[in-house]
Amino acid sequence: MRLLFIGDIVGRAGRAVLLDNLPKLRDAWSLDCVIVNGENAAGGFGLTEALCNDILDAGADCVTLGNHAWDQKEALVFIERQDRLLRPLNYPPGTAGRGAYLYEARGGARVLVMNAMGRIFMDPLDDPFAGVDRALTDCPLGSGCDAIVLDFHAETTSEKMAMGHFCDGRASLVIGTHTHVPTADAQLLPGGTAYQTDAGMCGDFDSVIGMSKAEPIQRFTRRISQGRFAPAEGPATLCGVAVETVDRTGLAKMIAPVRLGGRLNEAKPAWP
Ligand SMILES: [Fe+2]
Ligand SMILES: [Fe+2]
Repeated sequence: MRLLFIGDIVGRAGRAVLLDNLPKLRDAWSLDCVIVNGENAAGGFGLTEALCNDILDAGADCVTLGNHAWDQKEALVFIERQDRLLRPLNYPPGTAGRGAYLYEARGGARVLVMNAMGRIFMDPLDDPFAGVDRALTDCPLGSGCDAIVLDFHAETTSEKMAMGHFCDGRASLVIGTHTHVPTADAQLLPGGTAYQTDAGMCGDFDSVIGMSKAEPIQRFTRRISQGRFAPAEGPATLCGVAVETVDRTGLAKMIAPVRLGGRLNEAKPAWP
């Protein structure tokens, strides 16, 4: 099975690079399942129902979120009727929406997608390791489903690497999001789980993690806010990872970084 995970969509520029490329990639790369993190799609802050539908219509099977999940308050409502939208599974019990769901991919394969959030330098949510462990136990790779993808939305590289190894051999892909900068550590872990610490963003890299530079620099240098953060609007780079799994086990046999357009060096999978 061929999976594509695409990192945080940041604002209009991020949406444009996604909508321009995803329909073509879906066919050209014969993708079975596409997952997109949409937590910054609406002006950098959260996701509206209209934008969620645009991402799904462009060819995503599932949209994940993170700490910006509820920046657009309508998300609390439409997530209840949109089972293709996930928020972190370790929000407190009773939170709107769901954090894991079993999707039917192209060709009928079953793909469990999970979204969880780290706790280091982030909101103090429930234990993501315990929550992910429960989801993996409830729907084991190979017997319960054909592939498992975890979007682990976290600030620190250590917490993300720990989660990767915690899931090694039990998930097809553990991919980090939230820091918006793609890391250079795409690898197959020893147990067969594909891993990259951060997918990177879909956004303009002439920016501070997707936002126009002036206000972040002002806040770092003067410690005074002079306005709102707004997404940078130059040409964006689409960032993510492509993964190929083994049919029988659901484990990964290949992971490749994807970077298309904008300012970053291009990277693509060498599909056979
Ligand atoms: Fe983000
Ligand atoms: Fe985030």
